[in-house]
Amino acid sequence: MDKGSEKLWGGRFSQSTDELMEKFNASIDVDRRLYESDIEGSIAHVKMMAKESIITRSEADTLIKGLGKVKKQIENNEIKFSAGLEDIHMHIEDALGKVSGDVAKKLHTGRSRNDQVALDIRIYLKKETRIIIDLLYGFQKSIVKMAKTHLDVIMPGYTHLQRAQPVLFSHHLLAYYEMFKRDIQRFEDCFKRIDVMPLGAAALAGTTYPLNREFTREVLSFSKVSDNSIDSVSDRDFIMEFISHASIVMIHFSRLCEEMILWSSSEFSFITISDAFTTGSSIMPQKKNPDAAELVRGKTGRIVGNLVSILTLMKSLPLAYNKDMQEDKEPLFDTVDTLKICSEVYTRMFENIKVHKDRMYNACTTGFLNATDLADYLVSKGMAFRQAHSVAGRAVAFALDQGKELDDLSLEEFKDLSDLIDQDVYEFITIEKMISRRITYGGTSFDNVKQAVKRAMEELG
Ligand code: ARG
Repeated sequence: MDKGSEKLWGGRFSQSTDELMEKFNASIDVDRRLYESDIEGSIAHVKMMAKESIITRSEADTLIKGLGKVKKQIENNEIKFSAGLEDIHMHIEDALGKVSGDVAKKLHTGRSRNDQVALDIRIYLKKETRIIIDLLYGFQKSIVKMAKTHLDVIMPGYTHLQRAQPVLFSHHLLAYYEMFKRDIQRFEDCFKRIDVMPLGAAALAGTTYPLNREFTREVLSFSKVSDNSIDSVSDRDFIMEFISHASIVMIHFSRLCEEMILWSSSEFSFITISDAFTTGSSIMPQKKNPDAAELVRGKTGRIVGNLVSILTLMKSLPLAYNKDMQEDKEPLFDTVDTLKICSEVYTRMFENIKVHKDRMYNACTTGFLNATDLADYLVSKGMAFRQAHSVAGRAVAFALDQGKELDDLSLEEFKDLSDLIDQDVYEFITIEKMISRRITYGGTSFDNVKQAVKRAMEELG
């Protein structure tokens, strides 16, 4: 017998596959991680076939038992993976033949690897999406906990990375809480589209066997069955969507990473990152580098790269299945792994930072963070805002010239700028007063932020 016909699909071949081609064609090194989903999917398919009398009950029992054995064999590393058997689907079918005998040849009735692989990825990704959502909830909890214990910490808020106005540190943190809330919502929404059962599409056109797709759906706990067999085997939107959302999460992480890196520098010294999440330098003994934050920031590039990969992979592919699509798994798996480890590491690192309240507060005392409030003061005395803005601007220019801050100016100097200014200006432009007055819903006042923490805690349950 020629080598070509030994393959599960070898019937029509008279020549054996080129060895290099075999290696090139194989995806087993990547898709072996789908073994659990593949076996779960096959068991459901077998149960359905027995129910619809496509195979007998006793055949189904043998197959289900056999699939259980194969699962154990894989877990005990008793199956040798080889390029010749291409992918996880063929390895499992081959191993099943060895444990269950000829009846294994019935497993693939009414099924194609095209709908099988679509099913496997969906089973896998449903589980992973839930894990990722939980990890993101965990991180949100750490944010809120940190915000709650530092409600009295005031820091400069920045625009253009220039000191702008004082804000509560907790308010700044809760901005991230909001971002991650939307990230979770995006994953929850994407989950609905992952949660669709494609098996029964077979190669692309559906099948002649009386498959009960609804039954398979129920066994596998999917919410619905796919409506179009061609779409079922061609669709990878759910992967593109998943990686898009993962990219946005990573971009959020990377922004917080950047802030942690800046804040932990000697220039800022707003926080100290725990030794457990930093490393030293092999040449400079004084160094303590924020590697965890840097790596998470760096890995953002990988995930965005994975997004570009999957989008480019799918672009212009004609319907239905094309072998190109075998390349969907590496970017997906890498995204799942990277996002999980980044969420875990980041949460732990974040929970262990030390906040330097005085440094943050001191940074608010220089740099004219009260200039807007001086304008607001003038407005409170009856001046129009545009004019008040210009007077406050002149006050800043004058103070800069004198090497002073606004609150260092004497009342006479203030009066020279506008006679609407009185002694009460000094109280008006203190840091605490600036915070307290920002009472618009969503603003940084002490009360607002306390409420926001409470709201977040309720949301997290
Ligand atoms: N390993 C393949 C993949 O991941 C399985 C589907 C193969 N289908 C086929 N018609 N060759 O895409």
